[in-house]
Parts: sequence; C-alpha cells; structure tokens
Amino acid sequence: MPKSVLVVGQGYVGLPLAMRALAVGHRVVGFDTDQERVKRLAKGESYIEDVSSSELTAALESDRYRPTDSATDCAGFEIAVITVPTPLKESVPDLSFIEAAAWIVGRHVEPGTCVVLESTTYPGTTTELLAPILEEASGLVAGADFHLGYSPERIDPGNGKWGLANTPKVVSGIDEASLAAVESFYDTMVERTVPVSGTGEAELVKLLENTFRHVNIALVNELAMFAGDLGVDIWEAIAAADTKPFGFMRFNPGPGVGGHCLPIDPSYLSWHAKRRVGTAFRFVELANDVNDNMPEYVVRRLMLSLDRRGKSVNGQRVLLLGLAYKPDTGDARQSPAITVAQKLFGLGADVRAVDPHVRQQVGSEWMRRVALSEEEVAQVDAVVLLTDHTAFDYDMVTAKASYILDTRRRLDGENTEHL
Ligand SMILES: NC(=O)c1ccc[n+]([C@@H]2O[C@H](COP(=O)([O-])OP(=O)(O)OC[C@H]3O[C@@H](n4cnc5c(N)ncnc54)[C@H](O)[C@@H]3O)[C@@H](O)[C@H]2O)c1
Repeated sequence: MPKSVLVVGQGYVGLPLAMRALAVGHRVVGFDTDQERVKRLAKGESYIEDVSSSELTAALESDRYRPTDSATDCAGFEIAVITVPTPLKESVPDLSFIEAAAWIVGRHVEPGTCVVLESTTYPGTTTELLAPILEEASGLVAGADFHLGYSPERIDPGNGKWGLANTPKVVSGIDEASLAAVESFYDTMVERTVPVSGTGEAELVKLLENTFRHVNIALVNELAMFAGDLGVDIWEAIAAADTKPFGFMRFNPGPGVGGHCLPIDPSYLSWHAKRRVGTAFRFVELANDVNDNMPEYVVRRLMLSLDRRGKSVNGQRVLLLGLAYKPDTGDARQSPAITVAQKLFGLGADVRAVDPHVRQQVGSEWMRRVALSEEEVAQVDAVVLLTDHTAFDYDMVTAKASYILDTRRRLDGENTEHL
C-alpha cells in the first residue's frame, strides 16, 4: 500500500532513498534545511551522482515528490526517515543535526505513524536521544503511540552493482510492533530486509562494517610501508593471498581513507566505548593513526624519489591525478588527495590536479585544476596517481610522464613506482 513518506535530509543518502520510495509507489516529501539544495531540486537539478537530473525531473512531474525547506510541509506523514549528517566536531560525535531533525519531525508525529533513523551513529542514539525528543515534541509515547526504529544505510555511491534496492537492509524497532512497521516499509523498498532484535544492534551493524574496512585498510597500509622498506612487492603478495578461497578478504593500500564514513564512523564507536565502558577501542585508534599518516607517507615517497634525481620538491611542478576519495565518484569530502595536495603546496611545489568528477571548488588558492593532456603530463616533474578513475587515459600518462608515483597499482611503466 502506498504511503506518505517524509525523508528528512536530501543528501547522498536521503535523495536516492526518496527516489526509490517514489519508484515503488509512495508519495514523498523531501525536506532539507539547505535552501540552495531545495531550490536546485525544485528545478530538477541533481547534485548527487547516483540520481540523474532526468530521474529527478520525472519525479517532480509525477506530482508525488515534493522537495521543501519548510518544516510545515513535514505534516501528514505515515513514515518519516531521518538521513541527516552525523559529523565529528573536534573529534567528538556531533548529533545536533539529529536533534534538530527530531524536533521538526516530532511536532508532526501522529498516533500510528512510524519514525526511522538512518544516520550513522553509536548504539543507544535511537532510544536515548531520538525517542525523548520525539515524545516531548509530540506529547506521545514511543512504542505505545507511534513506531520507532533504526535502519543503517549501506549505499556505496558510484557502485554500479550494489544499490539501494539489491543490498540487504538491516531493520530494527524499539519493540515488536515498531520492528514490524519498519520492516514492512523497507520490504516495499528493497529486495531483502534483515531484522535484528534491537535498535542498538542495528546501530552497531553500521559501525562494525565501517570499522572492519577501516582497520583492514590500515593493516595493508602499514604492511605496504614495511614491504617497501623490505624490498617486497606488497601488491603481488596481496593478489596471491587473494587466491585463497576462504579466510582472506582483499583490501588494497592507498593514500589514506576519505569520504563521509571511514574517517568518522569508527571514531563514533571508540568515543562511545570510552565514555560508556571506560575502555579505549585500540584498533580504531591504531587504524586512525596509520590511515591518517598515509598522505604524509605519499609525500615522503615523492620527496625521496625527487631527491634521487637531484631535485627538491620546492619549486617542482607536480600533477595529481584524482582528488575524490574513491574512483569514479565526485566526492572529495575528507579526501586524502586534498591533504597530499596541501602538504606538497606547503613544501613549495607547484601543485596541479586533474579530476573530471569533482565539481566542488577545493583548494583553488594553492592548487591549479587542469585538464588531462599530453602537454600537461609532459611538462610536470612528477605525476602522483591518487584516485584511479576509469576516465583517465593511463596509456598516455605512462607514455608522457617523466616519473609517476602510483598509489593505486594501476600503472606499470619503467617510469612508475608503487606505494
Ligand atoms: N554518504 C554515504 O555514502 C553514506 C553511507 C551510509 C551512511 N551515511 C550516513 O548517512 C547520514 C547522512 O549522510 P549523507 O552523506 O547523506 O549527508 P549529506 O551531507 O549528503 O546530506 C545530509 C543532508 O541533510 C540536510 N540537513 C541537515 N540538517 C537537517 C535538518 N535538521 N533537517 C533537514 N535536513 C537537514 C543537509 O542540508 C544535507 O542536505 C550520515 O549519518 C552518514 O554518516 C552516509
């Protein structure tokens, strides 16, 4: 049965969710406090790569999707899904966006409605932070009067194989009736739902998944640094280990981690563990330490290679390939490539960067954005491959560059060194 769905936050998570809800027949209000974003949505202009402007235009024309920045438009929902940011503020979880969203949603909660939180956060947020605000704002009781649950988002922007619909979705509720309500909504949205017994377990799922990635990436990054010093090819070792059909999962070294998840989510867990249980989550702290130092390691490697050729970084022209934190996306949030660029600039390098996906203006004062061309590649003292976008002409780069530091093991020329 089609429902009236309110999606709070129209970003990387909320906009694709709104489009999916629409595609399966629901009516959707997409509420966002960012007026500029709402204006663009209303014009049919998507700012999220996974949603095309033509899909958005069709959504608007259907008359079942309404983007808005007006809180009063939030009234009348049957299901409200909260997808607002959960950043760190001075290394501490900042839940102020969830709180602000909860006050807005809470004023419109009616008996029998359902509220689901999707933002990534530490265990306990749904029951200890969200429920009390919703109850105070609505004058109703969570569970008794309205349903409440948590369902972690698993989208992987730019992933052509696993999207919202075919990725199993973990669902939870604060009681059995809430779980049933949350599950029945997501059963309309995805191929498979995975119910867990409580919201705390569901909240932990997302942090576990991202901490697992973060720690394993740190493991191969640290190994890569040792292997380099030992004169062993880490990439060959990883590829060979990956032939083991059980008990091994491949992760690749790189210039560090970025995006909205890995640099942030594991710290939610370690902060919470320390506060609640008094125990340091040492794996997260170690992984942060290793991964945060990778941009510095990349710069050091580049300095050494220039040094070998009698050059200093100061005054050299360096071309960075890729600014996004992962291939084929335009997301440069917390990208290690930006840190590499900043550090090189600080050392006096003339930094140029190519990224056909990243549209946002980053570092324009200290980095020149250029297009990838034979002339550009031939004129620089070094090329550093940081994000292995499919769109790059790798044969041309290998043919024209005097020296390449490849942090992604994509290139194989005589002029190329790997991380
Ligand atoms: N981006 C991802 O790949 C990803 C994947 C899984 C989970 N998550 C999690 O999902 C949550 C949202 O992330 P995102 O990447 O979509 O963030 P985003 O910044 O792309 O979008 C969030 C949107 O919420 C809006 N917003 C902020 N406060 C609001 C309020 N009070 N009411 C209405 N709108 C408000 C912002 O203007 C913004 O448009 C975070 O907790 C994140 O950790 C993100």
